Amino acid sequence: MPDPTASTVSALADETASDGTELIVLADDNADMRGYICRLLRDQYRVHAVANGADALQAARELNADLILSDVMMPVLDGFGLLQALRADPATRLKPIIFLSARAGEESRIEGLKAGADDYLVKPFTARELLARVGAHLKLAKVRAEAAQTERDLRTEVELARTQLEKRVDERTTELQLANEELHELSSRLQRTQDEERRRFARELHDSAGQILVAIGLNIALVKSEVHKLSAEAAKRVEDNAVMIDQLTREIRTISHLLHPPLLDEVGLSSALRWYVEGFSERSKIAANLDLPEHLERFPAEMEIAIFRVVQECLTNVHRHSGSRSCAVKVLKNENRLRVEIRDEGRGIPQEKPLTLISSQGGVGLRGMQERIRELGGTLSIDSSKEGTSVVVNLPVPQVA
Ligand SMILES: Nc1ncnc2c1ncn2[C@@H]1O[C@H](COP(=O)(O)OP(=O)(O)OP(=O)(O)O)[C@@H](O)[C@H]1O
Ligand SMILES: [Mg+2]
Repeated sequence: MPDPTASTVSALADETASDGTELIVLADDNADMRGYICRLLRDQYRVHAVANGADALQAARELNADLILSDVMMPVLDGFGLLQALRADPATRLKPIIFLSARAGEESRIEGLKAGADDYLVKPFTARELLARVGAHLKLAKVRAEAAQTERDLRTEVELARTQLEKRVDERTTELQLANEELHELSSRLQRTQDEERRRFARELHDSAGQILVAIGLNIALVKSEVHKLSAEAAKRVEDNAVMIDQLTREIRTISHLLHPPLLDEVGLSSALRWYVEGFSERSKIAANLDLPEHLERFPAEMEIAIFRVVQECLTNVHRHSGSRSCAVKVLKNENRLRVEIRDEGRGIPQEKPLTLISSQGGVGLRGMQERIRELGGTLSIDSSKEGTSVVVNLPVPQVA
């Protein structure tokens, strides 16, 4: 039998398209009660009345109810079932629900609130009480909704700011990476230019100054062959000149070879290192031990010159900074890696320096070497204490196919 006080969802949706007035879904299986409550609320709210929890659930979802007023004992789905279903659905989770029940007493009231109802009204209730509770809960729900909206807005703003910040950080990182790459590129160009310049100076010293010295030497030899025609004083000067020219020739050759050792191109790393370490020991009076593998094959030119320059830089540092009386250079080779260690027993790198070695304030020696080795895919590490310093270079050996 159709129930005149219980409306269908579609009918109400048609009839009361929202005009801003709040919509209340009322569920009660008692038609008189429904009629009574409808009359009480109708002046201020839109009311959609149904006879059981299942219809109330459907109406609350489809009509987007602002508040649900529900009896506890009902057929099909009772008040607790309705409450549970509404709370389980994100779309209706926050809707205020008020239970209406004939079951008086604190127990049932607490039971209803515990289950998650927002309020509990005991029948019979006065019109004033009903309106006051409904009004209060609608207001509360509105405040909650506004707070939730503010929170969502804030979250969106924060999210936006975060995205923008991340974008800025990404951009800066890319810029820095680019600058870093440019710096590496510049540094290796500098190294190459330096190598070429040194090679050119070495050749020029040898070819121009060296050749003139040879010519002067020949002239002096000629004069010496006729030394009997000279006074004793002049003869002594000629002899002195011969000695000085010899010395100068040797010095110029050493400088030229230090600028670029011809052995490095002609014979290879082992010979160039032997020549250099021996000469270093003689010049500096620091005992230098060189430990080389029995047979060291040829490596690509840039690798040989890099290792030679590292040894040269490190031994120069030993001489200039360490105060050590001895040092050792050790080259080790396994199948695919070359390890070079330069060690001294000196005072060590001052404690504050290791950091500056990789910053712009340090000398360019070790930093330049580090860059060179990095270019070749290797590493240069420095270990220093009051007992001495050791620099270790580790390089991959290019595999011949
Ligand atoms: N073997 C060492 N013993 C003690 N201190 C060292 C040693 N090698 C380097 N140092 C310290 O580390 C610093 C940096 O060395 P690095 O070779 O980079 O620069 P530098 O020798 O001062 O200048 P450059 O090599 O550019 O002429 C040196 O100034 C020195 O204080
Ligand atoms: Mg140096």
